[in-house]
Amino acid sequence: MANVTFRNVRKSFGEFVALEELDLHINEGEFVALLGPSGCGKSTTLRMLAGLEFPTSGEIMIGDRVVNDLAPGKRDIAMVFQSYALYPHMSVGENIGYPLKKRGIKGRERDDAVQKAAELLQLDALLDRKPKQLSGGQQQRVALGRALVRDPQVFLLDEPLSNLDAKLRSYMRAELIELHRRLGKTMVYVTHDQLEAMTMASRIAVMHGGRVQQFDTPDAIYNRPANRFVAGFIGTPPMNQVEGTVEGGHFITGGHKVPIDRSAYADALRDGPVVLGVRPEAITIGKGEGLPATVRLAENTGHETIVTLELPDRTRISARVEAARRLDVGHSVALTFDPDAIHLFEASATGARLNLDAKSASVVSMRSK
Ligand SMILES: Nc1ncnc2c1ncn2[C@@H]1O[C@H](COP(=O)(O)OP(=O)(O)OP(=O)(O)O)[C@@H](O)[C@H]1O
Ligand SMILES: [Mg+2]
Repeated sequence: MANVTFRNVRKSFGEFVALEELDLHINEGEFVALLGPSGCGKSTTLRMLAGLEFPTSGEIMIGDRVVNDLAPGKRDIAMVFQSYALYPHMSVGENIGYPLKKRGIKGRERDDAVQKAAELLQLDALLDRKPKQLSGGQQQRVALGRALVRDPQVFLLDEPLSNLDAKLRSYMRAELIELHRRLGKTMVYVTHDQLEAMTMASRIAVMHGGRVQQFDTPDAIYNRPANRFVAGFIGTPPMNQVEGTVEGGHFITGGHKVPIDRSAYADALRDGPVVLGVRPEAITIGKGEGLPATVRLAENTGHETIVTLELPDRTRISARVEAARRLDVGHSVALTFDPDAIHLFEASATGARLNLDAKSASVVSMRSK
């Protein structure tokens, strides 16, 4: 069994705590993305799983085995790095076959394994070339081939596409999804690119400040963010956050009332300061009734327009409207929010979500510091 478990893992580098308390359980065959801003501990998590770094405390398990003290070579994993780390003097075939050579696997057995990996990655016509005669995407595929040839239980990938241009990245995303589908192996994929995480992973662990903020499906991460950090990290532009108060079951900001669906909060809706979250696509810009705002910027991207609006308290929020819509900068408008798409968060910095969700049981690591 190749499921992966981090149990209460802490990692410090001297005085510096990189990971406070990491609890993750990844199922066999799952494609999990570790997503978060630079420095949040993604690579450290992956490197500990690979055995290149050791936890300060806690347990890491692959299958039923605690691997804390197991050498990297004994973990039955393969890792692909951002820098492909190919050997420049070796051909594509020799690069792919290298992990087998190191293990003493020779002749026909090695050639067959290399051929199989090369076919899977459409590299069979390039086996005699040297890495410098390949494009970036082809080099990345050789690095993948070198991981594949070992037939590991778990694949670890650390930002494998970040050196590629946008077009090639989107092509390789589709290739990796297809590869995962065919192999059915556990994959742990580190990225700071939310598009990669959202499109490829069956579940995403959103990390920040040395903790997992939420570990859930892309749909839940987008539609039911566990706290203000996740809400503000996912989405382009991300979810808007408007400060206000709850008074008698209504949300009030700058003296204006915003209708909310009270049944979505039950006891959590106590009077006091809160933050309202609303995605750019859940805002309607009109005239008359609604939250007053001023149009500050309208950016037409071709298929839609992103409008920057300023509320009376100077808060700026974004709305998404159809590209053909004309909005004049400086004009006053009235905003209404889709009540089913409103989120309320605690006003604290950690800002836990207050909405009641059928799936809230999957929300993890929400403890305030
Ligand atoms: N060997 C080390 N010694 C000291 N500090 C380290 C070491 N390795 C990592 N760190 C620190 O631990 C934190 C987490 O690093 P890590 O490389 O895991 O981040 P990351 O999420 O992968 O970031 P990025 O997206 O930039 O790759 C960072 O603040 C980093 O500076
Ligand atoms: Mg990293």
